Amino acid sequence: MIIKVLGSAAGGGFPQWNCNGFHSSSVRAGVAGYKARLQSSLAVSADGVNWVLLNASPDIRQQINETPQLQPAKGGPLRNSPIKAVVLTNADVDHITGLLSLREGQPFSIYAADRVLATLKSNSIFNVLAQDKVSRIPFELDKPTALQGAGVDLGLTVEAFAVPGKVALFLEKGDASSNFGSRDGDTIGLKVTANETGKSFFYIPGVAEIDEPLADKIRNSELLFLDGTLFEDDEMLTQGLLNKTGKRMGHISVSGPDGSISAVRPLNVKRRIYIHINNSNPILDENSEARKVVDVSGWEVSFDGMEVRI
Ligand code: MLT
Ligand code: MN
Repeated sequence: MIIKVLGSAAGGGFPQWNCNGFHSSSVRAGVAGYKARLQSSLAVSADGVNWVLLNASPDIRQQINETPQLQPAKGGPLRNSPIKAVVLTNADVDHITGLLSLREGQPFSIYAADRVLATLKSNSIFNVLAQDKVSRIPFELDKPTALQGAGVDLGLTVEAFAVPGKVALFLEKGDASSNFGSRDGDTIGLKVTANETGKSFFYIPGVAEIDEPLADKIRNSELLFLDGTLFEDDEMLTQGLLNKTGKRMGHISVSGPDGSISAVRPLNVKRRIYIHINNSNPILDENSEARKVVDVSGWEVSFDGMEVRI
């Protein structure tokens, strides 16, 4: 199975268009140790020919242009794409708006939890993806789903499971109905398995905490891509960027006693990679103390164009 990181940044990308904070201005200025990053998404393939995208970021057009495997086959039909399916982990802007760039009548499948599909249905702009060409397939949570799209069996099976999270920012109502920290399927994690080899990995780009059921899922796994939005829960506040903690945004932090380094340490996960990294996170600077903390803990920081084969 081939896994390509199409984007490693959180919503807004890195640098973010209107951000003049320390890290965004440093990457703009070309300071050594910083890399620009597109918004988070993975492309996965069992055969190297047909691909599924895990989330569709607003940067999808650039991501396809920079990834030859995702471009129409040379000498193929006038309209063709190796992208046969898109799997969504929630309805966040950085995960669904790339769908709009996949219009033009190309058949593929969208897999997501019921709640996310309901959000697409209630926003009429997504009707640009005609239902007869682009099928919407609800996941049955905690059950294996074999991926197919445009009449092709992708040779991949996905198990989707609810993780602690929340509704998308644009659906928040500021009260209990916003499901902060809930496990209602507004945010899911994915276990992706290659049918032929039985090899699997986890993709969890948004999660509020690693609770017991999630720890049980990922224990002893081979490969984990995890939410690396923030290094410290209050870094957006201390940098004066936004008046919100990571917890309020539905994101676990990397460091600290409740952070993901501590939570995953006892779980015997062989390879651990951070993704969905926010413009406030000091690990964006390869020469930072925070980056050293991550490195010595055995974690990797994904980057755009990173390829992993299992
Ligand atoms: C998030 O990951 O918290 C969202 O992408 C935030 C947003 O929609 O900007
Ligand atoms: Mn996001």
